[in-house]
Amino acid sequence: MTDSMTDGPNAGQEAFWSTGPGQHWVRLHHELDQLHARLTDIILDAADPRPGERVIDIGCGAGAVAIAAGQRVGRDGHVLGLDISAPLVEVGRSRSEGVTCAPDFLVADAQTWAHEGAPFDLCVSRMGLMFFADPVAGFANLHRHLRPGGRLVFAAWAAAAHNPWFGLAKRVAEARLGPSEPGDPHAPGPTAFADGPRVRQLLTTAGFKDPRAEEIDTTLEMPGGSAEAAELTQYIGPIPAQLRAKGGTEADRAALVEQMRAAFAAYDDAQGCHIPARINLFSATRP
Ligand SMILES: C[S@@+](CC[C@H](N)C(=O)[O-])C[C@H]1O[C@@H](n2cnc3c(N)ncnc32)[C@H](O)[C@@H]1O
Repeated sequence: MTDSMTDGPNAGQEAFWSTGPGQHWVRLHHELDQLHARLTDIILDAADPRPGERVIDIGCGAGAVAIAAGQRVGRDGHVLGLDISAPLVEVGRSRSEGVTCAPDFLVADAQTWAHEGAPFDLCVSRMGLMFFADPVAGFANLHRHLRPGGRLVFAAWAAAAHNPWFGLAKRVAEARLGPSEPGDPHAPGPTAFADGPRVRQLLTTAGFKDPRAEEIDTTLEMPGGSAEAAELTQYIGPIPAQLRAKGGTEADRAALVEQMRAAFAAYDDAQGCHIPARINLFSATRP
């Protein structure tokens, strides 16, 4: 660990992703990587890591994108996966054992991390940048670690209205447990970067040039079908948050999972469940 994070600006995120609900991400990393597989291809195809490049994956979680990037940069390149959660980084490390061109991993807060090695050619992230207490400070720190001309390419969720994974789950949970407190839509969290023009402005303020935001419609994939997808919603997303906030019971939990299964069944075919999803794909360059 490079920083003391317990009193840093993102200490709450460190606790959430290490000892709190992030433990479900540790346990369910295989299922979550299946769910998000299309996003990996979208990000890496846009970012185009080339053989020999130095790449950093921010908020790398259990390491799927870092490992895939390693295959693209090859033996002459280098990939570093960085995350604030020690248990998730541990999963990434163990999954990389024996993998060709495996990434290195580091536990650190990307907003404050100071790197002493050579700068990176490319910074990527799959849903890992929306959690900074101060997004401009976070982006500025990534900018600092890129070489001039280096690229930043990352995905974040578009509005919940376009993402049943969030929007439908929230509606179902609120219908049973009551409305949630209205919060700041820009507060750190999965949909904090739903507003593309706002994020482009944050990137400009942090020193990046040519910030772009592209909305992409894709799917979340669950080969096991709607029942497996619905099982995940009791651990990840609005349903567990609402169960915690409202003191929901086991009966509430079971009823919500069943409602999600019935709703997700509309997206089933012989290959599994394909849940519509919209992401914002952002890119920018260090001048
Ligand atoms: C939604 S998960 C995505 C994980 C991974 N990129 C994936 O697609 O499976 C968000 C990740 O961002 C990490 N994270 C949150 N705040 C961070 C920070 N300040 N510095 C580094 N990582 C952070 C969390 O620990 C978590 O692993």
